[in-house]
Amino acid sequence: MNRPGNRLVVVSNRVPAPSAAGAQVGGLAVALQSLMQQRGGLWFGWSGKISDSTSLRMIEDGAVRYATTDLTAEEHDGFYNEFSNATLWPLLHSMPELMTYDRRNAQVYREVNDRFADKLTPLLREGDMIWVHDYHLCALPAGLRSRGATGPIGFFLHIPFPGPDLLAKVPEATNLVRDLLAADLIGFQTENDARNFADAAVRLAGAEPAGGSFVLVAGRRVRIGAFPVGIEPQEFADTAHNAWEGASAQRLRRSLSGQALVLGVDRLDPTKGLMQRFSGFRRLLERSPDWRRRVTLLQIAAESRTDVAAYRDLRQAMEQEAGNINSGYAEPDWTPLRLIARAVPRDTIAGYMREARVGLVTPLRDGMNLVAKEYIAAQNPENPGVLILSRFAGAAEQLTSALLVNPYDADELADSLEQALTMDLAERQDRWQQSWGAIKDSSAVGWGRTFVAGLLRTTAPKRAMSGGEPATPHAGRESFASGVVRHL
Ligand code: ADP
Ligand code: F6P
Repeated sequence: MNRPGNRLVVVSNRVPAPSAAGAQVGGLAVALQSLMQQRGGLWFGWSGKISDSTSLRMIEDGAVRYATTDLTAEEHDGFYNEFSNATLWPLLHSMPELMTYDRRNAQVYREVNDRFADKLTPLLREGDMIWVHDYHLCALPAGLRSRGATGPIGFFLHIPFPGPDLLAKVPEATNLVRDLLAADLIGFQTENDARNFADAAVRLAGAEPAGGSFVLVAGRRVRIGAFPVGIEPQEFADTAHNAWEGASAQRLRRSLSGQALVLGVDRLDPTKGLMQRFSGFRRLLERSPDWRRRVTLLQIAAESRTDVAAYRDLRQAMEQEAGNINSGYAEPDWTPLRLIARAVPRDTIAGYMREARVGLVTPLRDGMNLVAKEYIAAQNPENPGVLILSRFAGAAEQLTSALLVNPYDADELADSLEQALTMDLAERQDRWQQSWGAIKDSSAVGWGRTFVAGLLRTTAPKRAMSGGEPATPHAGRESFASGVVRHL
């Protein structure tokens, strides 16, 4: 239900509007969709289309009003492909070796942020809370303020945030940190990310520590906190339960002829550690011939950002390596690695996850990683599979009973695969119970409500609140990175 007086206005580059182009794969769309459907409000962003039209497209769907705009070919290239995904994405994931930089693209990024601010401003009304998402829109909080927005503005970064030394590799980063500080509440996936941002705010952008989780910027108090994003665990568990009995999962099961299934589900992205994952699997087959014919790796990697060179190169490299592994180890009646380079429907994925003896979630760096949580939710509590999880995913802070690995270490991956494939039922149940305990009471909707409530609280002394945010029984975890700023 939309509450008059404090309408929620979500702004993100990717908008899952009913007419938006492209599959809605990715953490942001998955996390926000249920919140918006329940709460209602305005969702503003890119239509997913490329054209010369700069007009807004308005679509109503239940309580949600979507306002989207196309990008021009030049904007799509400079803003989305280049500065967002070839500069900021690798930088913020601490992978500067993948980063490309061109000042002209930084300019296009700023122009698109300005255009978004121009288009959104006339749609705003008194009492709106604006919640801006992700690295595509770092300049937007300042852009909205300079166009007169006085209401609460929150920002949430879905991906990691590195330390200030790394950040300085991109000349515009300092200004982007300043632009973000125009928001009232700035949220991150982990305490570490929040701490890194607070550090950058003070060291690069002239903010002053103001006690606890606050910094002071030109007389304004800005709050910095960690809000780990969740999934809808019970809903996903039910979907997995039903899909496991469905035709797709049955076909997969038949095709395995009793072999153990190891499953990877990701966007096809250089941060997901897919090549390193293949190396770990190869190492297992190489050094433990016993596993040949007894295990199959199914990697589902949804094509993503195909205009960015690093993504195209990765697809080629993966196909080549999958071919090498198969030609080196396959038998007439066994193919060790199956690779699918496209998105698969969500319920089908859930059924596959329940079938998988091992969930392999090994990003080199990841803000949170919802797939790890989905894998846990999908398991049969009587006979659960084992999650192998990268230490460098935000989810590892919560899923500490998974087998935690360094994804760069092929031997550690192979060790963990063996450990998972041979783990007895009691240990599998024990580990799963702990992981389920860590995620079962949080939810995507709770995460959103907790952030919104935090935003209202942060701004309450300054602005009259018109209607409070109700407490939710399944609130996401909120932590205002206590002492984040004090220790700088
Ligand atoms: P990211 O936000 O980097 O894409 P997350 O793991 O946080 O990573 O979120 C990915 C979301 O997209 C999950 O809900 C996952 O189930 C979904 N997804 C990822 N890959 C695929 C795929 N190949 N097919 C279908 N859904 C996918
Ligand atoms: O979680 C990171 C993220 O960039 C999300 O913002 C987005 O939903 C997802 O990855 C998919 O990326 P894209 O919008 O570029 O397809």
